[in-house]
Amino acid sequence: MSKLYNAGIIGTGSCLPPKIVTNEDLEKIVDTSDEWIVSRTGIKKRRVADENTATSDLATVAARRALDDAGLKPSDIDMIIVATVTPDMNFPSTACLVQANLGAEHCPAFDIEAACSGFLYGFILASQFIATGAYENILVIGAECLSKFLNWKDRNTCVLFGDGAGAAVVSRVDEKFGILSHCMGADGEGGKHLILEAGGSRKPASFETVKNELHYVQMEGSEVFKFAVRIMAKASEEAVSLAGLTKADVDFLVPHQANIRIIEGARKRLNLPKEKVYINLDRYGNMSAASVPVALDEASRTKAIKKGDRIVLVAFGGGLTWASCMLRWSK
Ligand code: UT7
Repeated sequence: MSKLYNAGIIGTGSCLPPKIVTNEDLEKIVDTSDEWIVSRTGIKKRRVADENTATSDLATVAARRALDDAGLKPSDIDMIIVATVTPDMNFPSTACLVQANLGAEHCPAFDIEAACSGFLYGFILASQFIATGAYENILVIGAECLSKFLNWKDRNTCVLFGDGAGAAVVSRVDEKFGILSHCMGADGEGGKHLILEAGGSRKPASFETVKNELHYVQMEGSEVFKFAVRIMAKASEEAVSLAGLTKADVDFLVPHQANIRIIEGARKRLNLPKEKVYINLDRYGNMSAASVPVALDEASRTKAIKKGDRIVLVAFGGGLTWASCMLRWSK
C-alpha cells in the first residue's frame, strides 16, 4: 500500500523504579568487581523493581508521561503495543493490563516479543498503521522487569541488566519529518545463545525446571557480543542508506544500551563524535526493550535531540533479532 502519511513520535515518557543497585552492591553477592563491570560493559548501576512492582506498572507510568508530553488523553489512543520479554504473566498481555490501567477503552492492545529489539519492532509496526491512515495515535511501550528473571548467583548475567519502561506516542507528523527508513531482521539459529528456557510449552514450569534454575536468563555472552558488534554497525549503516542519505547527514545516534564497547562500534561506523551518541547504560544497565525508548525520552527532554535532527535508532537482542530506523525528529 502506498504511503499516505508521515509517521513520527509526538510524545515520550519513561519510568524507572527508585531502587538503585550499584556495582559495589553486586561485589557483595557474586565474585565480580566494579573495575571488571565498568571496563567490560560501561555499567555502573542499575534500577531494580521492588517485589510489588511488575512490568505493567512501569509501562503504565511511562505511557501516562508520554501521553502528557503529546498533549493527549487515553481516549485518543487507537492502539497499544507493548514490547517485553518480562510480561506480568503469560496472558492476558501486558498491553491489555496497561490499557485497563489507562482507561484507554476498547482500543486494540497486544504484546510483541523481539527482546531488546522489541521497541523498534513495535515502532516500525505502529508506523505502518499511521502511514496508511488506519489509526491516528498509537502508544508503543518497551517495558521490562528483568531483575525478576535473573539468577542473582550468576555473575555472567546479573551484572548486566536493569528494570525500566519507556513509551512513545506514534502519530502523523508533517512531511519530511518522522520515520525515513527502517530495517528489521532475525537469526533464529543464534537464539540459543540468549535464552530463558522454562515456563513455556516446551518445558512447562515444574519442580524439576525450578530445581535446574531454568526460569532464569542464560547467556553465552561472547557469542552475543560478536553478533552484536557486527549487526549494530551494519543495521545503523543500512538505516542511513535506505533513507537515501549518507553518514554525514546523521545528527545523533540512540542505540540499544547493552555494552559501551558494542555502541562504540556503531558510533565509529557512522563517523560520529562521542557527544552525538546517547548513553545511559552507566546509570541503568541493559533494560532490554526499554533501553531505546528510555534513552529517546531522556534525549528529548534534555534537548540532546532537537526538532529537525536526523536520528538513527538501532537495537539487537535475543532471538536473535535486530532493528534500526532513521527518524527526523518532529518535536
Ligand atoms: O541485549 C542483549 C543482551 N546481551 C548482551 O548484550 C551481551 C553481549 N556480551 C557482552 O556484553 C560481553 O560478552 C560480556 C560483558 C557479557 C562479557 O564480556 P567479555 O569481554 O566477552 O568477557 P568473556 O565472556 O570473554 O569472559 C571473560 C572472563 C571469564 O572468565 P575466564 O573464563 O576467562 O576465567 C568470565 O567468567 O570474565 C569472567 N566474567 C566475569 N568476571 C567478573 C564474566 N562475568 C564476570 C563478572 N565479573 N561479572
